[in-house]
Amino acid sequence: MTFAVINCSQILTLAGPPRPRVGPELRDLAIVENGALIVRDGRIAAVGRDLDLAGLETLDAGGRVLLPGFVDAHTHTVFAGTRADEYELRALGATYAEIAARGGGIRSTVRKTRAATEAELLDAARRYRSWFLRGGTTTVEAKSGYGLSPADELKMLRVIHRLDAEGSLRYVPTFLGAHECPDEHRANRAEYVRLLIETLPEAAKLAPFCDIFCEPNVFTLAEAGEILNAARHSGMRLRLHADQFTADYGSRLAAELGAATADHLEATTEAGLRALHAARVQPVLLPASVYALGLTRYPAARAMIDLGMPVVLATDFNPGSSPTTSMPMVLSLASTHLKMTPAEAISAATINAAYSLGRGAELGSLEPGKLADFAIHDVGDYREIAYFFGRETAWKVSIGGKLQAL
Ligand code: NIG
Ligand code: FE
Repeated sequence: MTFAVINCSQILTLAGPPRPRVGPELRDLAIVENGALIVRDGRIAAVGRDLDLAGLETLDAGGRVLLPGFVDAHTHTVFAGTRADEYELRALGATYAEIAARGGGIRSTVRKTRAATEAELLDAARRYRSWFLRGGTTTVEAKSGYGLSPADELKMLRVIHRLDAEGSLRYVPTFLGAHECPDEHRANRAEYVRLLIETLPEAAKLAPFCDIFCEPNVFTLAEAGEILNAARHSGMRLRLHADQFTADYGSRLAAELGAATADHLEATTEAGLRALHAARVQPVLLPASVYALGLTRYPAARAMIDLGMPVVLATDFNPGSSPTTSMPMVLSLASTHLKMTPAEAISAATINAAYSLGRGAELGSLEPGKLADFAIHDVGDYREIAYFFGRETAWKVSIGGKLQAL
Protein backbone atom coordinates (compact mmCIF):
# COMPACT_ATOMS: atom_id res chain seq x y z
CA MET A 1 0.00 0.00 0.00
CA THR A 2 1.42 3.33 -1.13
CA PHE A 3 -0.22 6.68 -0.46
CA ALA A 4 0.63 10.31 0.21
CA VAL A 5 -0.64 12.71 2.84
CA ILE A 6 -0.82 16.13 1.22
CA ASN A 7 -1.65 19.67 2.29
CA CYS A 8 -0.14 19.60 5.80
CA SER A 9 0.51 23.09 7.21
CA GLN A 10 3.37 21.62 9.25
CA ILE A 11 5.04 18.21 9.30
CA LEU A 12 7.08 17.77 12.46
CA THR A 13 9.67 15.24 11.28
CA LEU A 14 12.02 15.35 14.28
CA ALA A 15 14.62 14.11 11.83
CA GLY A 16 18.16 13.99 13.08
CA PRO A 17 21.24 11.85 13.35
CA PRO A 18 20.65 8.38 14.81
CA ARG A 19 21.60 8.09 18.44
CA PRO A 20 23.36 4.85 19.39
CA ARG A 21 21.89 4.73 22.87
CA VAL A 22 20.36 7.85 24.31
CA GLY A 23 20.88 11.18 22.64
CA PRO A 24 22.49 14.12 24.33
CA GLU A 25 19.60 16.56 24.30
CA LEU A 26 16.14 17.40 23.11
CA ARG A 27 15.88 17.26 19.37
CA ASP A 28 14.88 20.03 16.99
CA LEU A 29 11.41 19.47 15.52
CA ALA A 30 12.77 19.84 11.95
CA ILE A 31 9.49 21.20 10.60
CA VAL A 32 8.54 20.94 6.92
CA GLU A 33 5.94 23.58 6.03
CA ASN A 34 3.22 22.95 3.44
CA GLY A 35 4.69 19.55 2.68
CA ALA A 36 3.65 16.00 2.00
CA LEU A 37 4.54 12.57 3.32
CA ILE A 38 4.68 9.36 1.30
CA VAL A 39 4.00 5.96 2.90
CA ARG A 40 5.08 2.72 1.23
CA ASP A 41 4.62 -0.78 2.67
CA GLY A 42 3.92 0.50 6.16
CA ARG A 43 7.00 2.71 6.32
CA ILE A 44 7.86 6.32 5.60
CA ALA A 45 9.18 6.59 2.04
CA ALA A 46 9.67 10.37 1.83
CA VAL A 47 8.83 13.66 3.54
CA GLY A 48 9.25 17.03 1.88
CA ARG A 49 7.92 19.91 -0.17
CA ASP A 50 8.36 19.07 -3.82
CA LEU A 51 7.79 15.34 -3.86
CA ASP A 52 6.72 13.52 -7.01
CA LEU A 53 3.17 12.44 -6.18
CA ALA A 54 2.18 11.28 -9.66
CA GLY A 55 -0.15 8.30 -9.58
CA LEU A 56 -0.35 8.13 -5.78
CA GLU A 57 -3.53 7.85 -3.79
CA THR A 58 -3.76 10.92 -1.55
CA LEU A 59 -5.17 11.89 1.82
CA ASP A 60 -5.78 15.65 2.05
CA ALA A 61 -4.84 16.88 5.55
CA GLY A 62 -6.72 20.13 4.97
CA GLY A 63 -3.93 22.32 6.36
CA ARG A 64 -3.66 20.37 9.60
CA VAL A 65 -0.45 19.40 11.42
CA LEU A 66 1.18 15.99 11.03
CA LEU A 67 3.60 14.58 13.60
CA PRO A 68 4.98 11.24 14.77
CA GLY A 69 2.57 9.24 16.90
CA PHE A 70 3.13 9.84 20.60
CA VAL A 71 5.12 7.12 22.32
CA ASP A 72 3.67 6.88 25.83
CA ALA A 73 6.57 5.26 27.69
CA HIS A 74 4.88 4.72 31.08
CA THR A 75 1.38 3.29 31.44
CA HIS A 76 -0.54 0.82 33.57
CA THR A 77 -3.26 0.34 30.96
CA VAL A 78 -4.37 -3.19 31.88
CA PHE A 79 -6.56 -3.23 35.00
CA ALA A 80 -10.09 -4.07 36.11
CA GLY A 81 -12.60 -1.60 37.52
CA THR A 82 -11.90 2.03 38.41
CA ARG A 83 -11.17 3.91 41.63
CA ALA A 84 -13.68 6.72 41.21
CA ASP A 85 -14.66 6.06 44.85
CA GLU A 86 -11.14 6.95 46.05
CA TYR A 87 -11.13 10.00 43.79
CA GLU A 88 -14.19 11.20 45.68
CA LEU A 89 -12.51 10.44 49.04
CA ARG A 90 -9.50 12.52 48.00
CA ALA A 91 -11.82 15.39 47.10
CA LEU A 92 -13.06 15.12 50.68
CA GLY A 93 -9.52 15.42 52.04
CA ALA A 94 -8.07 11.88 52.24
CA THR A 95 -4.57 11.46 50.81
CA TYR A 96 -3.29 8.80 48.38
CA ALA A 97 -1.04 7.39 51.14
CA GLU A 98 -3.89 7.23 53.70
CA ILE A 99 -6.13 5.40 51.25
CA ALA A 100 -3.33 2.94 50.43
CA ALA A 101 -2.61 2.34 54.15
CA ARG A 102 -6.28 1.39 54.64
CA GLY A 103 -6.01 -1.37 52.03
CA GLY A 104 -7.27 0.73 49.13
CA GLY A 105 -5.07 2.12 46.38
CA ILE A 106 -3.07 -0.36 44.32
CA ARG A 107 -4.32 -3.30 46.41
CA SER A 108 -7.93 -2.47 45.63
CA THR A 109 -7.20 -2.68 41.88
CA VAL A 110 -5.29 -5.91 42.53
CA ARG A 111 -8.38 -7.55 44.06
CA LYS A 112 -10.47 -6.64 40.98
CA THR A 113 -7.75 -7.57 38.48
CA ARG A 114 -7.20 -10.99 40.06
CA ALA A 115 -10.93 -11.67 39.84
CA ALA A 116 -11.07 -10.69 36.14
CA THR A 117 -10.56 -13.11 33.25
CA GLU A 118 -8.12 -12.41 30.42
CA ALA A 119 -11.09 -11.67 28.17
CA GLU A 120 -12.48 -9.11 30.61
CA LEU A 121 -9.11 -7.38 30.96
CA LEU A 122 -8.75 -7.37 27.19
CA ASP A 123 -12.16 -5.75 26.74
CA ALA A 124 -11.40 -2.97 29.22
CA ALA A 125 -7.99 -2.31 27.64
CA ARG A 126 -9.50 -2.14 24.14
CA ARG A 127 -11.71 0.69 25.30
CA TYR A 128 -8.68 2.58 26.65
CA ARG A 129 -6.84 1.84 23.41
CA SER A 130 -9.41 3.88 21.49
CA TRP A 131 -8.84 6.75 23.92
CA PHE A 132 -5.07 6.60 23.40
CA LEU A 133 -5.59 6.76 19.64
CA ARG A 134 -7.82 9.80 19.86
CA GLY A 135 -5.00 11.60 21.67
CA GLY A 136 -2.58 10.77 18.85
CA THR A 137 -0.69 8.00 20.66
CA THR A 138 0.58 5.08 18.56
CA THR A 139 2.82 3.17 21.02
CA VAL A 140 2.34 2.53 24.74
CA GLU A 141 4.61 0.88 27.23
CA ALA A 142 2.28 -1.25 29.39
CA LYS A 143 3.10 -2.58 32.82
CA SER A 144 1.79 -5.56 34.72
CA GLY A 145 1.59 -4.94 38.47
CA TYR A 146 -2.05 -5.47 39.42
CA GLY A 147 -1.74 -9.26 39.66
CA LEU A 148 0.98 -9.58 42.31
CA SER A 149 1.06 -13.36 42.09
CA PRO A 150 3.07 -15.23 39.48
CA ALA A 151 -0.05 -16.49 37.72
CA ASP A 152 -1.86 -13.13 37.74
CA GLU A 153 1.22 -11.16 36.66
CA LEU A 154 1.80 -13.52 33.73
CA LYS A 155 -1.91 -13.26 32.90
CA MET A 156 -1.48 -9.48 32.60
CA LEU A 157 1.59 -9.83 30.36
CA ARG A 158 -0.31 -12.23 28.09
CA VAL A 159 -3.13 -9.70 27.78
CA ILE A 160 -0.59 -7.03 26.76
CA HIS A 161 0.75 -9.39 24.08
CA ARG A 162 -2.74 -10.07 22.76
CA LEU A 163 -3.43 -6.33 22.57
CA ASP A 164 -0.22 -5.77 20.62
CA ALA A 165 -1.05 -8.62 18.25
CA GLU A 166 -4.35 -6.91 17.37
CA GLY A 167 -2.25 -4.24 15.65
CA SER A 168 -4.36 -1.15 16.38
CA LEU A 169 -1.80 0.26 18.82
CA ARG A 170 1.72 -0.90 19.61
CA TYR A 171 2.39 -2.18 23.14
CA VAL A 172 5.77 -2.70 24.84
CA PRO A 173 5.35 -4.89 27.95
CA THR A 174 7.05 -4.28 31.30
CA PHE A 175 7.00 -6.68 34.25
CA LEU A 176 6.02 -4.80 37.44
CA GLY A 177 5.50 -7.67 39.89
CA ALA A 178 7.07 -5.42 42.52
CA HIS A 179 4.38 -2.72 42.34
CA GLU A 180 3.22 -3.43 45.91
CA CYS A 181 3.48 -6.27 48.42
CA PRO A 182 0.26 -8.32 48.16
CA ASP A 183 -1.92 -8.85 51.25
CA GLU A 184 -1.02 -12.54 51.67
CA HIS A 185 2.72 -11.80 51.89
CA ARG A 186 2.71 -8.70 54.05
CA ALA A 187 3.77 -10.66 57.12
CA ASN A 188 6.67 -12.21 55.21
CA ARG A 189 7.95 -9.83 52.56
CA ALA A 190 11.11 -11.84 51.88
CA GLU A 191 8.93 -14.67 50.65
CA TYR A 192 7.31 -12.39 48.07
CA VAL A 193 10.71 -11.11 46.91
CA ARG A 194 11.83 -14.74 46.46
CA LEU A 195 8.64 -15.57 44.54
CA LEU A 196 9.20 -12.61 42.21
CA ILE A 197 12.78 -13.65 41.55
CA GLU A 198 11.58 -17.16 40.70
CA THR A 199 9.06 -15.68 38.24
CA LEU A 200 11.63 -13.54 36.39
CA PRO A 201 12.83 -16.09 33.81
CA GLU A 202 9.23 -16.67 32.71
CA ALA A 203 8.40 -12.95 32.81
CA ALA A 204 11.52 -12.17 30.75
CA LYS A 205 10.10 -14.22 27.89
CA LEU A 206 7.12 -11.86 27.78
CA ALA A 207 8.60 -8.50 28.78
CA PRO A 208 11.83 -6.75 27.73
CA PHE A 209 11.68 -4.48 30.81
CA CYS A 210 11.38 -4.91 34.57
CA ASP A 211 10.07 -2.08 36.77
CA ILE A 212 9.70 -1.67 40.53
CA PHE A 213 7.98 0.86 42.80
CA CYS A 214 10.96 1.83 44.95
CA GLU A 215 9.98 3.76 48.10
CA PRO A 216 10.84 3.12 51.77
CA ASN A 217 7.25 1.98 52.45
CA VAL A 218 6.74 0.01 49.22
CA PHE A 219 9.94 -1.79 48.10
CA THR A 220 13.10 -0.73 49.91
CA LEU A 221 16.45 -0.18 48.24
CA ALA A 222 17.66 -3.57 49.49
CA GLU A 223 14.60 -5.43 48.17
CA ALA A 224 14.61 -3.51 44.90
CA GLY A 225 18.32 -4.11 44.38
CA GLU A 226 17.89 -7.84 44.81
CA ILE A 227 14.98 -8.06 42.36
CA LEU A 228 16.48 -5.76 39.74
CA ASN A 229 19.85 -7.51 39.74
CA ALA A 230 18.05 -10.79 39.14
CA ALA A 231 15.98 -9.15 36.37
CA ARG A 232 19.14 -7.94 34.68
CA HIS A 233 20.51 -11.44 34.96
CA SER A 234 17.38 -12.69 33.13
CA GLY A 235 18.18 -10.28 30.29
CA MET A 236 15.68 -7.54 31.11
CA ARG A 237 16.40 -3.82 30.99
CA LEU A 238 15.27 -1.72 33.92
CA ARG A 239 12.78 1.10 34.48
CA LEU A 240 12.09 2.34 38.03
CA HIS A 241 9.30 4.23 39.79
CA ALA A 242 11.79 6.47 41.58
CA ASP A 243 11.63 9.45 43.95
CA GLN A 244 7.89 9.98 43.61
CA PHE A 245 7.77 10.82 47.32
CA THR A 246 11.27 10.27 48.76
CA ALA A 247 14.29 12.34 47.67
CA ASP A 248 17.18 10.57 45.89
CA TYR A 249 15.96 7.11 46.91
CA GLY A 250 15.02 5.03 43.86
CA SER A 251 17.03 7.31 41.59
CA ARG A 252 20.22 6.31 43.42
CA LEU A 253 19.56 2.67 42.55
CA ALA A 254 18.58 3.52 38.96
CA ALA A 255 21.94 5.25 38.50
CA GLU A 256 23.85 2.45 40.20
CA LEU A 257 22.26 -0.22 38.01
CA GLY A 258 22.37 1.79 34.77
CA ALA A 259 18.61 1.59 34.32
CA ALA A 260 17.06 2.66 31.01
CA THR A 261 14.78 5.08 32.83
CA ALA A 262 13.95 6.58 36.22
CA ASP A 263 10.30 7.62 36.28
CA HIS A 264 8.45 10.28 38.37
CA LEU A 265 11.43 12.11 40.02
CA GLU A 266 9.21 14.70 41.72
CA ALA A 267 11.44 14.59 44.83
CA THR A 268 14.85 14.30 43.19
CA THR A 269 17.52 16.87 44.18
CA GLU A 270 20.15 18.44 41.94
CA ALA A 271 22.69 15.84 43.16
CA GLY A 272 20.30 13.02 42.28
CA LEU A 273 19.83 14.44 38.78
CA ARG A 274 23.59 14.63 38.27
CA ALA A 275 23.95 10.99 39.25
CA LEU A 276 21.23 9.96 36.78
CA HIS A 277 22.78 12.08 34.06
CA ALA A 278 26.25 10.59 34.64
CA ALA A 279 24.76 7.08 34.41
CA ARG A 280 22.85 8.00 31.19
CA VAL A 281 19.50 7.13 32.73
CA GLN A 282 16.58 8.82 30.93
CA PRO A 283 14.13 10.74 33.14
CA VAL A 284 10.45 9.93 32.48
CA LEU A 285 8.23 12.74 33.79
CA LEU A 286 4.60 12.10 34.70
CA PRO A 287 3.00 15.48 35.44
CA ALA A 288 -0.55 14.12 35.11
CA SER A 289 -0.04 12.09 38.29
CA VAL A 290 1.00 15.23 40.17
CA TYR A 291 -2.05 17.04 38.84
CA ALA A 292 -4.51 14.22 39.55
CA LEU A 293 -3.27 13.73 43.11
CA GLY A 294 -3.77 17.45 43.71
CA LEU A 295 -0.09 17.90 44.55
CA THR A 296 2.04 20.93 43.73
CA ARG A 297 5.58 19.56 43.41
CA TYR A 298 6.24 18.92 39.71
CA PRO A 299 9.54 17.37 38.54
CA ALA A 300 12.38 19.79 37.77
CA ALA A 301 12.27 19.47 33.99
CA ARG A 302 14.22 22.67 33.34
CA ALA A 303 17.11 21.57 35.55
CA MET A 304 17.18 18.25 33.67
CA ILE A 305 17.15 19.97 30.28
CA ASP A 306 19.91 22.34 31.42
CA LEU A 307 22.03 19.31 32.31
CA GLY A 308 21.38 17.98 28.79
CA MET A 309 19.20 15.04 29.85
CA PRO A 310 16.94 13.49 27.15
CA VAL A 311 13.68 14.04 29.03
CA VAL A 312 10.64 11.82 28.33
CA LEU A 313 6.99 12.72 29.02
CA ALA A 314 4.33 10.04 29.63
CA THR A 315 0.79 9.76 31.01
CA ASP A 316 1.32 7.13 33.77
CA PHE A 317 -2.24 6.08 32.83
CA ASN A 318 -3.58 4.09 35.82
CA PRO A 319 -6.81 3.91 37.83
CA GLY A 320 -5.35 5.59 40.95
CA SER A 321 -2.89 8.42 40.54
CA SER A 322 -3.33 9.26 36.86
CA PRO A 323 -6.57 8.30 35.15
CA THR A 324 -5.76 9.84 31.78
CA THR A 325 -4.66 8.45 28.42
CA SER A 326 -4.17 11.94 27.01
CA MET A 327 -0.74 12.97 25.76
CA PRO A 328 -2.16 16.36 24.65
CA MET A 329 -3.11 16.94 28.32
CA VAL A 330 0.42 15.92 29.37
CA LEU A 331 1.89 18.38 26.86
CA SER A 332 -0.29 21.10 28.36
CA LEU A 333 0.90 20.27 31.89
CA ALA A 334 4.49 20.17 30.64
CA SER A 335 4.32 23.70 29.27
CA THR A 336 2.19 25.18 32.05
CA HIS A 337 3.85 23.57 35.07
CA LEU A 338 7.19 22.12 33.92
CA LYS A 339 7.98 25.18 31.80
CA MET A 340 8.95 23.08 28.82
CA THR A 341 8.31 24.69 25.45
CA PRO A 342 5.76 22.89 23.26
CA ALA A 343 8.68 21.86 21.01
CA GLU A 344 10.62 20.37 23.92
CA ALA A 345 7.49 18.58 25.12
CA ILE A 346 6.80 17.05 21.69
CA SER A 347 10.38 15.85 21.41
CA ALA A 348 10.04 14.30 24.89
CA ALA A 349 6.78 12.59 23.90
CA THR A 350 8.04 11.11 20.62
CA ILE A 351 11.70 10.54 19.73
CA ASN A 352 13.10 10.62 23.28
CA ALA A 353 10.36 8.27 24.46
CA ALA A 354 11.06 5.88 21.59
CA TYR A 355 14.73 5.75 22.56
CA SER A 356 13.80 5.04 26.17
CA LEU A 357 12.03 1.88 24.97
CA GLY A 358 14.96 0.83 22.80
CA ARG A 359 12.88 1.57 19.68
CA GLY A 360 14.54 4.80 18.52
CA ALA A 361 15.66 3.27 15.25
CA GLU A 362 12.11 2.64 14.01
CA LEU A 363 9.74 4.88 15.98
CA GLY A 364 9.48 8.46 17.20
CA SER A 365 10.36 10.48 14.09
CA LEU A 366 9.26 10.71 10.46
CA GLU A 367 12.27 9.68 8.42
CA PRO A 368 12.56 7.40 5.41
CA GLY A 369 12.65 3.76 6.50
CA LYS A 370 10.92 4.28 9.84
CA LEU A 371 7.49 2.81 10.61
CA ALA A 372 4.60 4.93 9.35
CA ASP A 373 3.22 5.71 12.82
CA PHE A 374 1.86 9.23 12.79
CA ALA A 375 -1.10 11.42 13.73
CA ILE A 376 -2.69 14.34 11.92
CA HIS A 377 -3.86 16.79 14.57
CA ASP A 378 -6.76 19.15 14.02
CA VAL A 379 -4.72 22.30 14.64
CA GLY A 380 -3.00 24.79 12.34
CA ASP A 381 0.18 25.15 14.42
CA TYR A 382 1.78 22.44 16.57
CA ARG A 383 1.79 24.65 19.68
CA GLU A 384 -2.02 24.56 19.71
CA ILE A 385 -1.97 20.86 20.71
CA ALA A 386 -0.92 21.92 24.21
CA TYR A 387 -2.45 25.39 24.16
CA PHE A 388 -6.08 24.29 23.60
CA PHE A 389 -6.05 22.00 26.61
CA GLY A 390 -8.68 19.48 27.62
CA ARG A 391 -9.49 18.31 24.09
CA GLU A 392 -8.20 15.37 22.07
CA THR A 393 -6.79 16.75 18.85
CA ALA A 394 -6.06 13.72 16.66
CA TRP A 395 -8.03 13.70 13.39
CA LYS A 396 -6.38 10.70 11.66
CA VAL A 397 -3.96 8.19 13.15
CA SER A 398 -1.78 5.75 11.22
CA ILE A 399 -0.11 2.67 12.68
CA GLY A 400 2.31 1.15 10.19
CA GLY A 401 0.51 2.92 7.33
CA LYS A 402 -2.98 1.70 8.37
CA LEU A 403 -5.45 4.42 9.28
CA GLN A 404 -7.21 3.51 12.53
CA ALA A 405 -10.86 4.05 13.34
CA LEU A 406 -11.12 6.88 15.89
O1 NIG B 1 2.94 5.38 38.82
N1 NIG B 1 3.41 4.97 41.91
C1 NIG B 1 3.04 3.83 41.73
N2 NIG B 1 2.28 3.37 40.75
C2 NIG B 1 1.37 4.15 40.04
C3 NIG B 1 0.08 4.27 40.76
C4 NIG B 1 -0.71 3.03 40.60
C5 NIG B 1 -2.06 3.06 41.29
O2 NIG B 1 -2.37 3.90 42.15
O3 NIG B 1 -2.86 2.16 40.94
C6 NIG B 1 2.02 5.45 39.65
O4 NIG B 1 1.65 6.54 40.07
FE1 FE C 1 3.40 4.43 37.24
